[in-house]
Amino acid sequence: MYVNDLRPPRPTLESEKTTTNGRESAMSEALRVISREHRNLFALLSCLRAILREAEADKELPDLGLVDSVISYLENYLNRFHHPKETQHLFPAVRRHRGDLGTVLDELESQHEMVGPSLATIRDALEDCRREGLGGLHKLRDAVERYSEFEIAHMGLEEGQVMPAARECLSAADWDSIDATFLSNDDPLFGDEQKKAYRRLFSEIVARAPAPHGFGGRPS
Ligand SMILES: [Fe+2]
Ligand SMILES: [Fe+2]
Repeated sequence: MYVNDLRPPRPTLESEKTTTNGRESAMSEALRVISREHRNLFALLSCLRAILREAEADKELPDLGLVDSVISYLENYLNRFHHPKETQHLFPAVRRHRGDLGTVLDELESQHEMVGPSLATIRDALEDCRREGLGGLHKLRDAVERYSEFEIAHMGLEEGQVMPAARECLSAADWDSIDATFLSNDDPLFGDEQKKAYRRLFSEIVARAPAPHGFGGRPS
């Protein structure tokens, strides 16, 4: 069993919904990409929360190097790979058509800015845990729980409001432009090499995560 088998039930994502709009299948590759990234993020956070919850219950330190790798992955993946797709491409297109969603889009953009400080808080708690051992574990787990709830609510707002609006209001020209950027192999932000690097790191995390969350063993 591995990380993707252990996700708790989640709402149906935009990319999984059927539609009566004949334009949909040709025009929503960008939404499929974003939803796939949301699923991966949800799985990773679920894995990390479960590892820390069990470690605290067992009064046993988790593999702190693994926690460090997850934080590094989130810092890089979100700020360099996922958020730019939304803030530079999807959100402006929705904003042009749906002025009534301006407040929601403003809120989502300001939430993107809060991810860095939230992850810095987790990293500080990780360093405390390295120094203090088990005495610092509760603070680390608490920081991860608070960030996970925040991030899941953020994705829920995107999946629940922005992506349905995009499906309804974006024109063929909007989708052509967005999809071309998302699928480009030339742009270093969206290209194959970057995707491969993140997939490699994700696979390494899963390989190191203790069973049943991944393929690794508990630290001795
Ligand atoms: Fe976002
Ligand atoms: Fe997102």
